[in-house]
Formats: sequence, C-alpha cells, structure tokens
Amino acid sequence: MGKKGTIYVCQECGYKSVKWLGRCPSCGGWNTLVEELDVDYKRGFSLVRKASKVLPISAWESEETERVSTGYKTLDAALGGGLVKGQVILIAGEPGIGKSTLLLQVSDKFAQNYGKVLYVSGEESGTQIALRGKRLGINNSNLLVYPEVNLENILETLDRELPSLLVLDSVQTIFSEKLESSAGSVSQVREVAYRITEWCKEKEVPAFIVGQITKEGSIAGPKVLEHIVDTILQFEGERFNFYRIVKVVKNRFGSTGEIAVFKMGDRGLEEVPEPSAFFISEKTESPGSVVFPHTEGSKPVLLEIQSLVIPALYTTPQRKTQGFDPNRLALILAVLEKEAKIFTRDADVFVNVAGGMSVREPAVDLAVALAIVSSKKEKPIPSDTVIFGELGLSGEVRAVHFGDLRIKEAKRFGFKRAVVPKSLEVEEEGIEVIPVSHISEAIDLFF
Ligand code: TYD
Ligand code: MG
Repeated sequence: MGKKGTIYVCQECGYKSVKWLGRCPSCGGWNTLVEELDVDYKRGFSLVRKASKVLPISAWESEETERVSTGYKTLDAALGGGLVKGQVILIAGEPGIGKSTLLLQVSDKFAQNYGKVLYVSGEESGTQIALRGKRLGINNSNLLVYPEVNLENILETLDRELPSLLVLDSVQTIFSEKLESSAGSVSQVREVAYRITEWCKEKEVPAFIVGQITKEGSIAGPKVLEHIVDTILQFEGERFNFYRIVKVVKNRFGSTGEIAVFKMGDRGLEEVPEPSAFFISEKTESPGSVVFPHTEGSKPVLLEIQSLVIPALYTTPQRKTQGFDPNRLALILAVLEKEAKIFTRDADVFVNVAGGMSVREPAVDLAVALAIVSSKKEKPIPSDTVIFGELGLSGEVRAVHFGDLRIKEAKRFGFKRAVVPKSLEVEEEGIEVIPVSHISEAIDLFF
C-alpha cells in the first residue's frame, strides 16, 4: 500500500483501488494502476476564484483580462496577445532543443518589465544556469535562480517570494513528499503540475512549466498534463539546425496552431519576425522543390517542400519523410499511381519540409504530390509558384481553410502564381490564381 491519502488509479479507465494491482480488474489493462493522491485532477481550475458576476454577453468583452508581455512580440502574438494572470503554460520538447535557454531569456525580459521572477531548476545547478546567463548576457538582480526538487519547499518559497513569473524547469525532476513514487512518474508529474497550477491560479501569477519529451514521447509529458495546464507549447526544430519553432497546440486564452519562430545563435535565441522569408531563403529552382503556404493558425508561413525520387537501392523501396506523416506519403503515392499514372514502385521516395518545421495539415498534399512528380520527371516547377490543396482518394483536389490568407502571403513575397483547389473562389490582383479540380490537371500545368 502507498502513503496515507493515496490511492491507485487505472490510467486507462479510471478504476480506483486502495492497493496496487498488476492488472486492472475493470478494463483488464496490465500495469495501468498508478499511485495518486486521492483528489480529482480532472476537475480543472476556474479562472474566477471569487464569486462571479452575471453579465450580458456583450458586457464581458470589456472584462477581457489584461495581458503581460513575454518580452518577445512574436511569442506574445502566438499566445493571443501575451500572458494572462495565473496562466500556466507547459513547454514541451526534446532535450537540447533550447527550452531552458528560451525561458531564461523570457525570465530576464520579464524581470526587467515586471519585477521579481523565480526560476526553479531541478535539472541544473545554480552555477550552470549562471554560466548560461553569462553567455546570454543576462545579469539581473530581479531574476532569482532556485535549484530545488522538493515541491513542498518550492511552494513555501513561492509564498515567501511572491514572484511576478514562475519558471519550473522541469516538471519531471520535481517530486512531492506526499507520494511514494519517484520523480518523473505519472503520479508525481501530475501532482507537481496540479499543485503549482493551484498556487498560480490562487495568486494570479503566470508560470512556464518545462516538460521533457523523448523522441518516442515515452516519458510522462503533455498527455498527462493536458487537463491541468491552460496552454501547451511544443518546441520543435532540428537540433543541429538553427531554426526553432514554438507551436501552440492548446490554448485556453487564444487559438491553436499559432507559431513563433526563433533562431539559435551564439548568444541564445533571437526572434524571426518574418518566418516566410527565412524558410524559403535557401530555395533554388530545382526539380523536387515546391513552395507551400502553410497555416494552422492566423499567420501563414511559406515553406519549401522537397522531394527526391531515385531508383530503389533495395527490393523494398524506401519511403522516408521529415516533418511530414509517412502514412500520408503512402496515400499520395497511391493516388499518383492510380489517377495520374505516375509510378514510383521501383523508386525510393524522400519528402522533407525544409527548415525543421513539421506540417500536419492536409493542405500540403498537392504540394507534396507535385514535388514528387517534379523530382521523378527531373523538371523544376517555376520558382514563382506556390501550391496548396488537399488530395482525395480519387485524385480530386479538395478545399482547404484560409485560402485567401495563403494567397496574400505568397503575393507579399513576390510570388506570381498560385495553384489552388477549384472550389476556392479568390481573385487577387498581382498574382495569378489557377484553380484545379484533379491531380492530373495540376500535373498537366507543369509537365
Ligand atoms: P537548452 O536550453 O539547454 O535545451 P533544453 O533546455 O531544451 O534541454 O539548449 C541547449 C542547446 O542550445 C545546447 O546544445 C547549446 C545550444 N545553445 C546555443 O547554441 N547558443 C546559446 O546561446 C545557448 C545558451 C545554448
Ligand atoms: Mg533544459
């Protein structure tokens, strides 16, 4: 049996037991019972702690909570205009991607603008953080660094210091004395996030919580904390490349899909105000390269999609992608074969989103398909062209969201032509909009 006041809860079905069991008697799952404090973590947090008001819907608009700045314009914009009082943000990403660097920089700016910031580090010593600070040119007496892993101590310090911003780096290294399980376990991670969030809501202090995730996503990460935190930021990019992308994947105070792009240099991260210019800066007019106007939020960004089709080296041809779903690639190859007689069965096919960005929206399908055809036929697509549209199973080009925003962004960067889904009725001066209804029609335009 665990410590007093704890129970074992099945992570699959929610079954509760006073003692640990190897197999859940309710759903039959193996090893799914985890020690938890006997509280309901899913009840969530209310923004309004005190008794609330009843107001007509229109009157609430002026009640909009004021926001504070992270010190970075693009990050503020991605968050919906800055941080809200008591907002808890989980920032997840692989080790070494730059989470601690970003948060130390944000802490510095925040301390300059709003006073005391408490940076709790469970991963690095004070000296290590000081060395990083030195490299970043940070020397701020309002930026307090506190190496600690004990949650109860941290909460006590928080009460005493009452900072204007809290950074917890990382949630996996902090543990509560109330639980027997070790730091980083599902129950500890949840308990730490819950108690910190409770404190933040109560005192109306915003917080960033770092969550480490491995490539396999195996360590307790965003999934466990989804219900507790207000906002989840995914920190992406290739470690050995200098682009870093902060993607908003959940936000109670703004829309999701928004991004902020940074550049990692010798002196830390620097904002990239014009990501489109950045992502297509190295593009050349060569076979297999297509520009795709991407958007999952309100701000489109031009990306270069690259494909390489070469005779297969082995009997089983390879399909490899970077920043793009390999299952989607399989589907596109099948559609190309059936609907456009473009055969790649005896070829290795690679697809890459340049710059370390990952694209999940189906609007990229048509750009990927044409990049593949272009590489296979060894003929470039004119570099003044952008392409977007979702592909259906019978080769039809389907409508996508934000068509007008995408076209405007392409025009802003001097593109002269946009190949788009037929159903999209947009006319834009200065850029030729070419609607297509089928993949073969799009291919006929260029080959
Ligand atoms: P870090 O913030 O420690 O990553 P995380 O907290 O996500 O694990 O970033 C570490 C990497 O960033 C490391 O490989 C060194 C690099 N880096 C720079 O390139 N420039 C800098 O100014 C700093 C501080 C780090
Ligand atoms: Mg770190």
